[in-house]
Amino acid sequence: MASAHELEALAIDIAREAAELAHRRRTEGVAIAATKSSIADIVTEADREVEDLIRGRLAAERPDDGFLGEESGAESGASGITWVVDPIDGTVNYAYGIPAYAVSIAAVRGEPVPDRWEGLAGAVCNPVSGELFHASAGGGAWLGDERLAVNEPVSAAGALLGTGFGYDPATHAGDLARVARVMPLARDLRRIGAASLDLCFVAAGRLDGYFERGLNPWDHAAGALLVTEAGGRFARAELTDDPGRPLFVAAGPTLFGGLFAAAVGS
Ligand code: IPD
Ligand code: CA
Repeated sequence: MASAHELEALAIDIAREAAELAHRRRTEGVAIAATKSSIADIVTEADREVEDLIRGRLAAERPDDGFLGEESGAESGASGITWVVDPIDGTVNYAYGIPAYAVSIAAVRGEPVPDRWEGLAGAVCNPVSGELFHASAGGGAWLGDERLAVNEPVSAAGALLGTGFGYDPATHAGDLARVARVMPLARDLRRIGAASLDLCFVAAGRLDGYFERGLNPWDHAAGALLVTEAGGRFARAELTDDPGRPLFVAAGPTLFGGLFAAAVGS
């Protein structure tokens, strides 16, 4: 059985190679290959090619593990470990040339269902900035070789918060009402466009907190481990008015309770 540290090293190695490929394809030009759940939800040829690279490397190096990827679906394994992969998180940024996108790779133990899995290792690599965030269970959260810690406590001027909006236009009114409830806690709000990076930014103290409804497992699997290993809290809540699309909140311990309550609306 590989240690969490060994899984982290593999995630880092594959994330670097995958990020280089994504970046190379970006410099060659991007074509939108298809739209998915809505017109805003796009996939490029690079998303698929990068996921194929990651999946191929994991199959070669960890043949008994399961796989859950955004573009190519799920396959269960025999080892109890599943790799949860977003080949390009921030695809709309990628398509528009905004330098905030990342490859996100996590190894989890248990059923590959958020809340029921235990995060073991994760790596999130933004090839444009060259930043590689990584963590392992019990081993801390890191940006390269710098150890990360969430902001604690938050400045009296208010919290710098991040959020995101789902692709389904029907959900926008609820998301905007949530922003209005949360703003009294905030000094300002960011919408970076890549959930994995939002979570890594909470871990790094670049954001005080983050909330978003309706994330997919691959959006948060690695970033959530970064947050908790950096001393923060990460949780999800089912919303009565939007079942099946839970709300996710991440922040340092002092901010977390108030942010969670404001975001849920309780
Ligand atoms: C999306 C990004 C975005 C978030 C969406 C995600 P994708 O992932 O993380 O910031 O607001 O909820 O689906 O589609 O670019 O991989
Ligand atoms: Ca993606």
